Amino acid sequence: MAKLLLAPMEGLLDNVLRDVLTRVGGYDLAVSEFIRVSGTLLPLRTYLRICPELGHGSRTRAGTPLAVQLLGSDPASLAENAAQLATLSPAGIDLNFGCPAPTVNRHGGGAMLLADPEHLFRICSVVRRAVPEEIPFTAKMRLGVRDTAKTLDCARALAAGGIDSLVVHARTKADGYRPPAHWEWIARIREVVALPVTANGEVWTADDHRRCCAVSHCDDVMIGRGAVADPFLARRIRLLAAGERIATDRSADWQLLLPLLALFWWQVCAKVSVQHAPGRLKQWLSALRRTFVEADSLFLAIRPLRGIDEIERVLRLQGVPALCAAA
Ligand SMILES: Cc1cc2nc3c(=O)[nH]c(=O)nc-3n(C[C@H](O)[C@H](O)[C@H](O)COP(=O)(O)O)c2cc1C
Repeated sequence: MAKLLLAPMEGLLDNVLRDVLTRVGGYDLAVSEFIRVSGTLLPLRTYLRICPELGHGSRTRAGTPLAVQLLGSDPASLAENAAQLATLSPAGIDLNFGCPAPTVNRHGGGAMLLADPEHLFRICSVVRRAVPEEIPFTAKMRLGVRDTAKTLDCARALAAGGIDSLVVHARTKADGYRPPAHWEWIARIREVVALPVTANGEVWTADDHRRCCAVSHCDDVMIGRGAVADPFLARRIRLLAAGERIATDRSADWQLLLPLLALFWWQVCAKVSVQHAPGRLKQWLSALRRTFVEADSLFLAIRPLRGIDEIERVLRLQGVPALCAAA
């Protein structure tokens, strides 16, 4: 079957959640959250802190390869940092041309670069020379800043700059994350560039995946929020593609998810401070509410709590196993 990619999601899909989601399986590649490059040469420890997978062959514990995403606007600085990152042998180096965050855009980075296809070309051609041939060099773009007037020029510029493949999030910066995603534009991009294109945006179910492939004319799809809301989505998509029936009973999946929730919580507590750990659990549970009614009641029970011990008590009561049992 065609490829499924786990999307980069800064502030949500970090190494801990990547570990858990790729254990469930179904993804061929994960892309890290963006690492901001702004003039200085980042030390290797920055990459290893954000992407500890780089210390293990650039794979998650379940074995899924991890590409690392850089975000910046200065070609020379991006190239210098990409060369430094390449020494850690990531499974790919990806450039972000889609971030809509005001702090990033104020410095001319992320989606703002889509206003200037020539600058996209400059960035890619300079970074291309810095990335060894054996490391896939890729980019992720939105359709544009405000409209689609320059969409095709941007895609052509990235391709001419020498990227190996392209992910298209089928919305403009102005669209934010509002549905729909304009998958038909990905089909238009595919017609003008001669490289593999991966479709992205608004795939929440196996049926969305099927329709996205049909409309975008892409075989490969990247999934972001849908993967966080339903850890079994990639597996469901693969079952559907294989012509098998998909179970509609989500409560069986919830039971399978309980040890993974424990594993997530355990890793979060080891990674972040006691003040921040509850927020991370609430954040994922809130996303899971879209798929599981059980996540809703667990979220509501945990929402007012701040202390690790009281959260642990609620987790036990609701069937999430103790940490050592899960690890
Ligand atoms: C919280 C959040 C953080 C994101 N961080 C990144 C990022 O670091 N790099 C990037 O290229 N895209 C980022 N995105 C965009 C996603 O990768 C993806 O393109 C977008 O969510 C659309 O896909 P989806 O509908 O499957 O979620 C982020 C999206 C969200 C919601």
